[in-house]
Amino acid sequence: MTAIRPLVAGNWKMNGLGSALAELVTLRQVLAEKPVPEADVMVCPPATLLTRAAEVLEGSNIALGAQDCHPLPSGPHTGDVSAEMLADAGATAVIVGHSERRLDHGESDALVNAKARAAYRADLTAIICIGETQAQHQDGGTLDVLKRQVQGSVPEEARAMNTIIAYEPVWAIGSGLTPTPADVARLQGAIRENLRQLLGETEGRAMRILYGGSVKPANAAELLFVPNVNGALVGGASLKGLDFYEILSAYRDPEAT
Ligand code: PGA
Repeated sequence: MTAIRPLVAGNWKMNGLGSALAELVTLRQVLAEKPVPEADVMVCPPATLLTRAAEVLEGSNIALGAQDCHPLPSGPHTGDVSAEMLADAGATAVIVGHSERRLDHGESDALVNAKARAAYRADLTAIICIGETQAQHQDGGTLDVLKRQVQGSVPEEARAMNTIIAYEPVWAIGSGLTPTPADVARLQGAIRENLRQLLGETEGRAMRILYGGSVKPANAAELLFVPNVNGALVGGASLKGLDFYEILSAYRDPEAT
């Protein structure tokens, strides 16, 4: 079996005015000087910056993603943005089901599933987020939550080439807390098993599963080489081009100049 190519994706959340594009310029420059051919890289700025970010990143190997989409292609949904619009603005991927959307906007697994299918319809890769809350973590219900979220949020037509899973324990997001590498291995392994059951051996084995939640330059090396961790979804530390590069460079061959 060929190894899964890792991805480090940055989720800017509701951060970033036009001036933040300078961070993308920095990222692009440092990657040109010290490439990391071992991994893919993506940034997901707010929708308002997509078109301008696409211009900054044009011709680079930094992919552009968005943070959410509506399930429908167009219509009377004030304030919403469709997957087709994101693709039109230059995105090639979209995050769906981030815990902040599940919690702030009451998004269900069924809605997340519909949003992932909208992504496929627009030829976008769906980055489907799952993860247990603090209370579920304390109750020992994590494995059940993850299984339910995979079954509910991941469409049956999901394929490794159009879908990425991001496991993000809600209690680890923005808190500076992370699970131990052993727990990350156990939970990502369980997600892998759930994917194999849902999608079959080939797709279940090949699909990327990212870890997210307080990934920083200081802990990247210990989290990114855990079995079944195929990269990271990075929030706060993705806002600075150099910090984000430092996380990505955990994959860099130490012999490279
Ligand atoms: P964080 O966010 O890296 O700031 O914890 C991760 C995420 O929510 O994707």
